[in-house]
Amino acid sequence: ADRRPVIAGNWKMFKTVHEAEDYAVKFLDEVKDVTDIDIVLCAPFTALSALKNELEESIVHLGAQNMAWADQGAYTGEISAQMLLDVACTYVILGHSERREMFGETDEEIARKVQQALRAGLTPILCCGENLSLREEGKAVERVQGQVTRALAGLSADELSRIIIAYEPIWAIGTGKTASSKDAQEMCASIRATLTERMGMAAEKVPILYGGSVKAENIAELMTEPDVDGALVGGASLDPLQFAKLIKNAG
Ligand code: G3H
Repeated sequence: ADRRPVIAGNWKMFKTVHEAEDYAVKFLDEVKDVTDIDIVLCAPFTALSALKNELEESIVHLGAQNMAWADQGAYTGEISAQMLLDVACTYVILGHSERREMFGETDEEIARKVQQALRAGLTPILCCGENLSLREEGKAVERVQGQVTRALAGLSADELSRIIIAYEPIWAIGTGKTASSKDAQEMCASIRATLTERMGMAAEKVPILYGGSVKAENIAELMTEPDVDGALVGGASLDPLQFAKLIKNAG
């Protein structure tokens, strides 16, 4: 399939403005010659404006880690799609398991956010993934298919063609336990099958990423799997040299 690999870093709640600027300089120097991978840095809201200045006209794309489903208004503490566009964001992570588990985000809210992002012209990186007990009960596929189906409800074929999916088994996030590349492939293939039911052959074009303890040392093997088109990287994206190495190993 002719899908361009995507490697996205999710800094989560790390880095001040100064740390982000320092990172950007070092990181750009390392990845400036990468041409065959889409690179995305998903930074905290407070660092986005500074990163816009550092990364403008570079090959590195900017993303946020969450976004409101509303346009604007009395929504204390929320950040809108327009605000993200204003600081040169082109991607936004939606429905990360940490937001689902710790901040109570539901499939319905996530679906509204996906619609809002697409309407604004942002590329949503929609996250899905099962926890350990569901995996042990053999219900992982059912859970992930359900999450994807509910998050994408009501989207047109054109809208569906502009999304990225990230499969992140919760038991592999920040634990050092990566899913085996076979497990990652199985789930990514099943997600693609779910997408095919919705959008036919256009599902072949949708990038599906794996996330959960991806490192410079294990990315190459994951990338050999036919339905794994890249990675959403947490911990290993925090150091610019380590993340650049991971990206080079993915290519
Ligand atoms: O969004 C990234 C994932 O939650 C993976 O995090 O690479 O630290 O396991 P991790």
